Amino acid sequence: MRAAVVAVSKKLMSTHIMHVVGARPNFMKAASTLQALARRNNIRQSLVHTGQHYDANMSDVFFQQLGLPEPDVNLAVGSGSHAQQTAEIMARFEPHVLNEKPDLVLVYGDVNSTVAAALVCAKLRVPVGHVEAGLRSFDRMMPEEINRVLTDQLADLLFTPSSDANENLAREGIPAEKIHFVGNVMIDTLVRLLPRCEEHLPSGLPQLYALVTLHRPSNVDDPEWLEQLLQTLSELSCHLSVMFSIHPRTRERLRECKSRVGADGKLRLHDPFPYLQFLALQRRAAVVSTDSGGIQEETTWLGVPCLTVRENTERPVTVSCGTNLLIGRETDRLREEVDRILSGSKKTGQVPPLWDGCAAERIADIIVQAF
Ligand code: UD1
Repeated sequence: MRAAVVAVSKKLMSTHIMHVVGARPNFMKAASTLQALARRNNIRQSLVHTGQHYDANMSDVFFQQLGLPEPDVNLAVGSGSHAQQTAEIMARFEPHVLNEKPDLVLVYGDVNSTVAAALVCAKLRVPVGHVEAGLRSFDRMMPEEINRVLTDQLADLLFTPSSDANENLAREGIPAEKIHFVGNVMIDTLVRLLPRCEEHLPSGLPQLYALVTLHRPSNVDDPEWLEQLLQTLSELSCHLSVMFSIHPRTRERLRECKSRVGADGKLRLHDPFPYLQFLALQRRAAVVSTDSGGIQEETTWLGVPCLTVRENTERPVTVSCGTNLLIGRETDRLREEVDRILSGSKKTGQVPPLWDGCAAERIADIIVQAF
């Protein structure tokens, strides 16, 4: 009886932190934060999956490999237009928040789930923490940029991965006391799991290969440009193996444009890889080409050259300090840079400040202090 009373009063005293994830890049960020908070006293955590990403190879396998607990609730929103998806997340998340009354809701990155959850909480006056705050591409054509700006305006605690993010937030009038430069939580997960990734390396891997991912609307929703990119990758695959991990959005677009590129088997098209396999592949790659945000960061930490098929990046530290190069919409430049790398002249870089595997620990300390 006495034990039960103690348990109940402990539960009453504990701070309830609710994490909201929805899309693939959120999972790696939430994993390290959940684990760091689990090491603190008097914290109760719950996990909400919005279901923005629902394919097993975009979600379930990440939960398993990252050691994420089963979500307490899955809102199962699925796909839709931006407005539909965002609105659906809000409508399904609001009753859950009203019911659970969390003390703090943590949102991650820049996906639709991030801004939808932040907006619900702001209206209910539930404090919000934004992990990976302050990043800016200054390109409002990117849906993620809109999500970033709005989420940061709504958040009460803003955890930044790099000093440029602090400058962006200051410029947008966010009070300094809300902003905490903690480092990169995605790198925490990389540091933790890197020793385990080699055993997940796919068999029959070529000695020399390029690893490619492309899924941004700016690259895959324009059929002519997509065809041009595929043609270039196909040409490159005469010099080195090209492994192209195909995101569901890209798969759909390829089906729509009925591209014949890749049909000759030189360019290898793969379903999305699980986290550990993809990490192992990045580490061994001669070069990575991508339009993803997280991969620009991971390659910088790994010291692997990264050619980003975008005009801009919200992660400028990967260019100024790391191994990343923006190649824009120039396929000639992509060919030239790959040639340069293959001839042994690759950009070397450094690991940015506070990308040390301890960012989530800093977040946990700040949250404990705040509550
Ligand atoms: C989302 C994020 C993007 C992130 C990316 C990583 C937004 C605005 N964008 O983009 O920032 O880099 O995730 O993956 O939130 N689909 C499936 N199965 C899935 C998920 C999606 O088939 O599990 C299909 C859907 O049919 C949809 C398309 O992929 O049409 C795009 O999915 P969506 O979640 O809308 O955006 P992403 O392009 O994945």
